[in-house]
Amino acid sequence: MSHVYVAGSINQDITARVQRRPRPGETVSGESVSYALGGKGANQAIAAARSGASVDLLGAVGSDRFGEELLADLDAEDGLSTAHVRRMPNTSTGVALVTVDADAENAIVAVPGANATLAPEHVTDVEITGEAVALSQFEVPQPTIQAFFEWAQSRGATTILNPAPAEDVRDGLLEVVDYLVVNETEALFYSDGDADSELSMAELAATAADLRAHDEQVVVVTLGGAGVFASTPSETIELDAYAVDPVDTTGAGDAFVGAFATAIGDGLSLRDALDLGTAAGALAATEAGATPSLPRRTAIQDIRQDA
Ligand code: RIB
Repeated sequence: MSHVYVAGSINQDITARVQRRPRPGETVSGESVSYALGGKGANQAIAAARSGASVDLLGAVGSDRFGEELLADLDAEDGLSTAHVRRMPNTSTGVALVTVDADAENAIVAVPGANATLAPEHVTDVEITGEAVALSQFEVPQPTIQAFFEWAQSRGATTILNPAPAEDVRDGLLEVVDYLVVNETEALFYSDGDADSELSMAELAATAADLRAHDEQVVVVTLGGAGVFASTPSETIELDAYAVDPVDTTGAGDAFVGAFATAIGDGLSLRDALDLGTAAGALAATEAGATPSLPRRTAIQDIRQDA
């Protein structure tokens, strides 16, 4: 069984369903509101656990009520340990304000709170052993991610970075990344492309090659309803998406990354790991919310068999 260590964010998601988002200065009436555990770190940790990994989450919540409730939710997840989640005094828990529109597309404002306090010393005292995977995203500070990956690699672990949300990358960080997983928007951001254009396969290949920071690095670009593209130094792989009716895409990318990390930790081929991630991402889009929609291993196996 793979062991996945996730250094990442934990947020209270507050989600409003709307027909359409307000324009600047406008107020629109929402249809419903829901509250759920979220944050890219927590989502990917849960996705990894539900797809079969043993998971350690390294993170931080605040000293408020949200922090207490989110920790209890995380503790209720089978296969996930919160032994390395800290409660920071005099700090608020991360909060994400999510709107989901009639097309099931989301738009998010995330306020980091305690996530911003996760420091290198909080992630380098963790014993990492065996065929482990270290996974992180950009909702915790980049120096912390770099220290975590350097520590993990020194222990023989494989590192996976999902640099989301997109932001400038500090020098040296990509050098300690084995698998870089981005969506199309992020791929364009990191390759200085036009964020409004869609990439052809040839452009995707060129972009992935552009993003590759070292000779061994694998670059994965998730394409939502169009599937996934991966580029290694020796081959490219394209897979179609699983056909589903999306209800809410929040957390679909996280479902992909978590399940992909589990598969890499299990020693699956890159193609199988991409397929598992794609199936998990599709299933996550069929239900509302981030963590409530993250699929379990049996559901992922079922959709793959039925395809
Ligand atoms: O990727 C989805 C997540 O992004 C949400 O759960 C929200 O917390 C934001 O961080």
